[in-house]
Amino acid sequence: MKIGIIGAGQIGGTLTRRLTKVGHEVFVANSRGPASLADLARETGAQAVSVREAARGGEVVVVTIPEAKIRDLPRDLFAGVPDEVVVIDTGNYYPRERDGRIGEIEAGITESRWVANQLGRPVVKAFNNIYAQHLLERGRPGGSQGRIALPVAGDDQHAKETVMRLVNELGFDAVDAGGLDESWRQQPGTPVYTADFDADGVRRALAQASKERTPKWQATENSTGSFTHPA
Ligand SMILES: NC(=O)c1ccc[n+]([C@@H]2O[C@H](COP(=O)([O-])OP(=O)(O)OC[C@H]3O[C@@H](n4cnc5c(N)ncnc54)[C@H](OP(=O)(O)O)[C@@H]3O)[C@@H](O)[C@H]2O)c1
Repeated sequence: MKIGIIGAGQIGGTLTRRLTKVGHEVFVANSRGPASLADLARETGAQAVSVREAARGGEVVVVTIPEAKIRDLPRDLFAGVPDEVVVIDTGNYYPRERDGRIGEIEAGITESRWVANQLGRPVVKAFNNIYAQHLLERGRPGGSQGRIALPVAGDDQHAKETVMRLVNELGFDAVDAGGLDESWRQQPGTPVYTADFDADGVRRALAQASKERTPKWQATENSTGSFTHPA
């Protein structure tokens, strides 16, 4: 497949490496422009492109930038991009360490619903609950004992199945985690978050999740956003 990736940091860089490795054609972008991605392009064979080209470059487009920065993307980024193009959101909301307060998320909509609203596009939530390093190194062939599973949430079954196939190609079982409004079950602070469970464990963890955002994951009066490197 042709796959666009917006964001070339820990997750975007990892997905560029892994997706090219399994044979996909990747178009990767960051905020500083293609020249800054020359090394990654050389290493992986991916093409370094602009953000707009990445949004138009694929049958699948992965958006993988810090949550608060979603607001900095061009408002018309997906205008004219065919409906059948699948958009994946890997994002997590870190109000205290990184993103500052996002009022709608604090008020209760899921993080990925907020991203979809900002992009004006449906999204499928995936790859948000695994550390980038584990995504790079811990994939295993299908059927392996203890294979790590990843939850995949979204409203469009066909889009979700496309993403679940990609998850599997990258070496992980995929668990259907329901619609986007259920995706609080895999947000930061939930049992499945960074837990590396197998498929049964993921299903159990999703079922045990609590919707309430614990204080650690709520913005404070002082949450203005900064840029350290949380997961
Ligand atoms: N790190 C993890 O283990 C992990 C695991 C699961 C999920 N996540 C989530 O996935 C998302 C990405 O995380 P990350 O750790 O990969 O972030 P990161 O390492 O900080 O990288 C962020 C990337 O986003 C790019 N970017 C920022 N603003 C942009 C814009 N307006 N347009 C285009 N590109 C932009 C940056 O480009 P420049 O460098 O050019 O600014 C950089 O390539 C976050 O929501 C994070 O919470 C992270």
